[in-house]
Amino acid sequence: MPTFFHRDFLCIGHRGFPGAAPENTLRGFELAISAGADALELDVQWVDGGLIVIHDDELDRTTSGTGRVDTATLAHLRSLDAGGGERIPLLEEVLDLVAKRLPVNIELKGPGTAGPTVDLLRARGEDVNGILLSAFDHRELEAARAAAPEYPRAALFGRIDRDLVAAAGQIGAVAVNVHRHSARPALVKAARNAGMATLVYTVNDPEEALALRRIGVAGIFTDCLDVMLNSAGLR
Ligand code: G3P
Ligand code: CA
Repeated sequence: MPTFFHRDFLCIGHRGFPGAAPENTLRGFELAISAGADALELDVQWVDGGLIVIHDDELDRTTSGTGRVDTATLAHLRSLDAGGGERIPLLEEVLDLVAKRLPVNIELKGPGTAGPTVDLLRARGEDVNGILLSAFDHRELEAARAAAPEYPRAALFGRIDRDLVAAAGQIGAVAVNVHRHSARPALVKAARNAGMATLVYTVNDPEEALALRRIGVAGIFTDCLDVMLNSAGLR
């Protein structure tokens, strides 16, 4: 497995390939790989003893269920339809599907997710080059670093742009993952000067992706892999 940053500009399947299949499902991840994604991104939460791959705090938008994710039982979560007959996958099932064919950015969504995630990665012998851990809650990244410092980390940020690079440096990040509205040349340059890459979410316009590439961004999270991968200048 090459490193996560195995091309000079990465088109990363955001939650798989939501332009073609339900987000964060095995079908979506397989379609993303078939389409030629450079890497995958997924969201993981530790709920009732399982690492489940789902983005929201609530079940309503993406599944046949309702109510909170974090108070549901694993059995209930696994009984739901996540779109087109897909189940909410376990992280282990996604890693089995990927089978080291391409790198995976695992976003740690809920509290207490870092420990079980790195335990799983180690138990499976997942290649450090094939994994990038990220989180908006940097305490999760600190926990990941304490438990398994070998797995690289990216500091995720919302729509703020102050002290990003310093904050990312404090948790030993290899990248800053920023909202598209924060991805300015000065930030990209400051991150590079600190030895960090910049990844940008969520970019679905190829012209915007090209402009980001020109300012030195290392890759984008996109819902539209098909559009990006067929866009001149991005491949
Ligand atoms: O990791 C990039 C992006 O996925 C962060 O935002 O809300 O899509 O998880 P969100
Ligand atoms: Ca995410």
